[in-house]
Amino acid sequence: MSTDCKLTWLGHAAWLLEIGGARVVIDPFLNDSPTAPLRADQLQVDYVLVSHGHADHVGDSAAIANRCGATLISNYEITEWFRSKHKVAKVIGMNLGGGVSLPFGEVRLTIAFHSSQLPDGAYGGNPGGFLISSAGKRIYFACDTALFSDMRLLTGAGLDLAVLPIGDLFTMGIDDSLEAIRLLTPRQVAPSHYNTWPPIAQDVHRWAERVRQETGSQPIVTKPGQTFSLER
Ligand code: NI
Ligand code: MN
Repeated sequence: MSTDCKLTWLGHAAWLLEIGGARVVIDPFLNDSPTAPLRADQLQVDYVLVSHGHADHVGDSAAIANRCGATLISNYEITEWFRSKHKVAKVIGMNLGGGVSLPFGEVRLTIAFHSSQLPDGAYGGNPGGFLISSAGKRIYFACDTALFSDMRLLTGAGLDLAVLPIGDLFTMGIDDSLEAIRLLTPRQVAPSHYNTWPPIAQDVHRWAERVRQETGSQPIVTKPGQTFSLER
């Protein structure tokens, strides 16, 4: 199994993770995103992870999963919606606190404080985040959430990377993301869910400066479409 781990920000809250020989996309909102570096039909993946029901996260998940024959992973309400409404064939429906072992590693659905209505108004269950353990790495995608003190329970054997929203308004903003970093103590931290539209505009370089000054973590700031490798 490859020990390489690469991450590409696809704009907004969408991330491509290449880990343990698998290609995993999280919240692929691409075709309607003003900052996505590629279109949904340009993406080839094995897994599609959907954190909650909002349109800026569900995005192009159904089209991508169906074209690639990928497995769609989310909470049970959302995977049932994709199965019945979009005929997605391969789904894994989970619930908060549960984990699933896959060929590339383990995926756990973690709590998030947010909401989760699906684009057509259907009930989207509880919103979540993802804790991915693979190839000796532990990566936490908080996805859309407020700050919560139980984040400290996710540190476990240590986090190599945390991906946190910083856009404010719909999720935690910069101040709370710094508190989250102090709770999670990840080796590296990447910002998400900002600069897609004016209401969630943030000065990401100021954020990175404060991460360096006020936490023990190393910030990773990328542009949409840029790939970085996780340190071994
Ligand atoms: Ni949301
Ligand atoms: Mn969102």
